[in-house]
Amino acid sequence: MKVGIFDSGIGGLTLLHQAMILMPQENFLFYADTDHVPYGTKSREQVISYVDDVIQFMISHDCKAVVIACNTATAVAAELMRERYTFLPIIGIEPAVKPAVEESAGKRVMVVATPLTVHEKKLKKLVERVDDAHLVDLVELPRLVEFAECGEFVSDQVTRYLQEQFSSYTLEQYGELVLGCTHFNYFKDTFQTLMPPYVHIIDGSLGTVRQLMRVLSSKGLLTLSQTETDQKENNNWETLKNDICVRYYTSGHLITDPLQLKTIQHLHERLELMRKI
Ligand code: DGL
Repeated sequence: MKVGIFDSGIGGLTLLHQAMILMPQENFLFYADTDHVPYGTKSREQVISYVDDVIQFMISHDCKAVVIACNTATAVAAELMRERYTFLPIIGIEPAVKPAVEESAGKRVMVVATPLTVHEKKLKKLVERVDDAHLVDLVELPRLVEFAECGEFVSDQVTRYLQEQFSSYTLEQYGELVLGCTHFNYFKDTFQTLMPPYVHIIDGSLGTVRQLMRVLSSKGLLTLSQTETDQKENNNWETLKNDICVRYYTSGHLITDPLQLKTIQHLHERLELMRKI
């Protein structure tokens, strides 16, 4: 059986990438709902219906657990899906607001996300719960997902767009930047150049993969490493990538075209670079 991981598009590869590093013994089904990307500018009802279709696909493809590797879909639909599919472990990604507030040492925390995530109750409640000192600012970046889906990660246009979106904020007052959309990880190097050097950039993928491992383990579903050597090499992407079985789908279609698979490989390579920032 496999672990299903999905997003509206290439953002979810961030989480798959991290899962492949920490859980190299698992098989994965990665699903990018490219027919409907972006989710973040759609209505709640539309996103719920897309997520429901993907989860049914995952169930029919023998997934033992599903990770919603999309902050927007988690905010809108995770609770509802858990009520609907009680037999299936469903893990959602959330912006890493709590660790960011804990580490901010009194400096402000900027959370960047899609418009839908920013306006959802789930994120507002999370902020209320952890932000006693009122340090958190929520900033929507509606166009960044489009740039990512076009493969435009580093360009003057991207830099200008982010500069414009940040123009009304005093960036020196921030200590933490939370990437509240999985697509935003592709732009970590540009975020880094725009923010003061002391700003720490954080996202929710590591925490979500750890939660996935805890949930699978508590249900006896975690595939254990074969040997101690597997464990030791766990953190080395280069030694792992060729041995892990992943099937990639776009909106229900298995990707078999070598050129498309090569593109995915390049995205993993970019994510590996971004992971080290
Ligand atoms: N990657 C998704 C997220 O984490 C959203 C992208 C979209 O708007 O489709 O929020």
